[in-house]
Amino acid sequence: MLLQVQDIHTYYGQSHVLQGLSLEVGEREIVSLLGRNGAGKTTTIHSIMGLTPPRAGRILFRGEELSGQPPYQIFRRHIKLVPQGRRIIPSLTVEENLKFALLMVRSDPRRELARIYEQFSVLQERRNQKAGHLSGGERQMLAIGRALLGKPALILMDEPSEGLAPIVVREIMRIITEVNERGVSILLAEQNVKLALETADRHYVIDQGRVRFSGSGEALRAHPKIMESYLGVAARS
Ligand SMILES: Nc1ncnc2c1ncn2[C@@H]1O[C@H](COP(=O)(O)OP(=O)(O)OP(=O)(O)O)[C@@H](O)[C@H]1O
Ligand SMILES: [Mg+2]
Repeated sequence: MLLQVQDIHTYYGQSHVLQGLSLEVGEREIVSLLGRNGAGKTTTIHSIMGLTPPRAGRILFRGEELSGQPPYQIFRRHIKLVPQGRRIIPSLTVEENLKFALLMVRSDPRRELARIYEQFSVLQERRNQKAGHLSGGERQMLAIGRALLGKPALILMDEPSEGLAPIVVREIMRIITEVNERGVSILLAEQNVKLALETADRHYVIDQGRVRFSGSGEALRAHPKIMESYLGVAARS
């Protein structure tokens, strides 16, 4: 396993948000993390990155302990984040956004930029435009391109479809699948169950900071009660 999250407990002050959560992501897998608003998806991702360090439990990357390491070191160990709401810098151009992120990467910056532009021709076309002038889909592409700098083994994506029109969501999902086919494992936090079922190999459904279901798409489809109770998806008769 590439990533092993074992029985983590994460708090905001007194508030016990993740209550013994465990999950795994294998080499070359797309794994979904499904849950409603406030279920704990972002907190799980931030716990893995060391942004909200768990008070108990273990997080292993390629068998090595991540817990206790600062976020910048976790970044450098080839786990990248596509944060909820994208968090690009609107006043910088596309290329400046990428160059800024390249400060955190050890690889040759010119080669890295060329690689990202080769993969995302839109970013190359728009490289001198302010990121704030990009469409929602282009911003998401920039956030994904930025995460690919330095060839990470694993990318944590926090609701990449949020706020995008359905046709743009399709394009982003196609990109995510393509990124995965090039050898990157992905943990995909989503509220959009349909999308997760189409994109991911395996699924975790969380609610109130605990895993309520884990398994294949087939198994999830066979559990309409899980979908109804924890994801708000109406069970089909
Ligand atoms: N900074 C914070 N301080 C206190 N409580 C927080 C903080 N961030 C999140 N929480 C609480 O922790 C719980 C989990 O929130 P989290 O953001 O992880 O959910 P989520 O699944 O990512 O939701 P969403 O789909 O809305 O992004 C919620 O009850 C939320 O109110
Ligand atoms: Mg969230």
